[in-house]
Amino acid sequence: MFDYTVVHARQSVGYKHLIKAAQSLRCSNVNTSALRLFQFELAHNRRKRMMKKMSEKQERVVVRGLRDVAAAETKISYVNSNGTLYYLGYDIDDLVERVCYEEVAHLLLYNKLPNAKELDEFRSRLVSEMKLPQRVIKRIRVAPKNCHPMEVLRSEVSHLSEYDPHPNDHSDAANKRRAIELVAKVPTIVATLHRTRTDQQLVAPNQEYGFAENFLYLFKGKTADHQEKEAIDRFMTLHADHGFNASTFAARVTASTNSDIYSAITSAVGTLKGPLHGGACEKVMLMLDDINTEEEVEEYIQGMLDDQKKIMGFGHRVYKAEDPRTKHLRSIAENLCHRTATLNLYNTCMKIENVVHDKKKIFPNVDFYAAVVLNALGVPKEFFTPFFASSRTLGWTTHVIEQYQDAVLLRPSSEYIGEFGRSFVPIERR
Ligand code: ACO
Repeated sequence: MFDYTVVHARQSVGYKHLIKAAQSLRCSNVNTSALRLFQFELAHNRRKRMMKKMSEKQERVVVRGLRDVAAAETKISYVNSNGTLYYLGYDIDDLVERVCYEEVAHLLLYNKLPNAKELDEFRSRLVSEMKLPQRVIKRIRVAPKNCHPMEVLRSEVSHLSEYDPHPNDHSDAANKRRAIELVAKVPTIVATLHRTRTDQQLVAPNQEYGFAENFLYLFKGKTADHQEKEAIDRFMTLHADHGFNASTFAARVTASTNSDIYSAITSAVGTLKGPLHGGACEKVMLMLDDINTEEEVEEYIQGMLDDQKKIMGFGHRVYKAEDPRTKHLRSIAENLCHRTATLNLYNTCMKIENVVHDKKKIFPNVDFYAAVVLNALGVPKEFFTPFFASSRTLGWTTHVIEQYQDAVLLRPSSEYIGEFGRSFVPIERR
């Protein structure tokens, strides 16, 4: 008689092994169909044991949305839930009204606020680098008009890599050079797209102007006055960096595979585009367009909340107090609305802020008043997020360089909640 228990003890699950085991036990009349059935049972039990083991072994804490997870260390910016933001140790409140965007760029890229001579040289370099390769301009001209500007920007950032003179140089110096070129060229891509879409002549950057001022000049084709200059400089400074936000994280993940900086910034542009991140800015303006008077605010917001819709430009993953950038942007918005005689828009925003706070206890984030500022500067709403991207390229590139220095692959795991042990069915029997 064939002793199944002996075979079981030997864990011989292959059919041939079972025959062999039966023969070695000197069994006569080995019942092959019984053996096949037994083999199937063993395989099934083995699968069950494996599944149990897998679910025991791999159980781990899932942090939904990576909330409060510190994915890496950084020295670039500090974001605290109590409403503070530091760039390389400097409180943003101490910087915003005292420095220009080029000084912030120098600080982030070289960990040092520049002296007057360094600032002059750095500004001149940035402005020279604003020029785009002719083929990039040609591509922008033929980009389909129905493409969102962020889609064109995403493609053209990627396209810039084709003009890198030394693509195989992975040194820190080469990456700094690329960072400066990207910081300078992204605003020009945005401005060029706007000018070509509106059939206006392109203007060349002016070495007499500051960097942010040049951006507005390239975009609008006319010299910014003092108030506009100040507004765009502060806007760009306030958007320069912000810890491990989604687009910066996307850039760092790409860089962590040792992929090139252009790929990393392309990932970041694509991530910023989403309406839960930088895309919210444009949606804020759509909401403001929908609300005609201050009196409509209460009902409009209540309607949105009743429909379980998010109020764009409100709420934040980190800040539980007011976003430290809001007070600056609110004040810039108020000044610009005064001069453009659009104070009713500003007052509507104040009302929205109060109503949303009363109902949900949440505060406006950077995107809320940024929309009002850009609108008052004459930027069409579909270009709001590209203006954000133009300012944030600085933070992205700085983080990418830091990630290269950290030299570790960013690769989290996941908790598998799907099936195991599904029986394979050949295609002709499905
Ligand atoms: N409108 C209405 N309710 C909101 C909003 C909002 N904008 N934001 C948060 N809440 C509510 C949530 O419904 C939730 O309420 P509950 O506890 O009653 O369920 C509570 O506040 C907590 O919010 P979470 O969803 O946990 O916040 P989370 O950190 O996941 O999301 C996010 C943050 C995505 C920014 C969210 O606030 C949001 O969607 N805001 C609107 C889009 C936006 O403005 N994005 C730009 C963010 S800033 C930036 O990326 C540049």
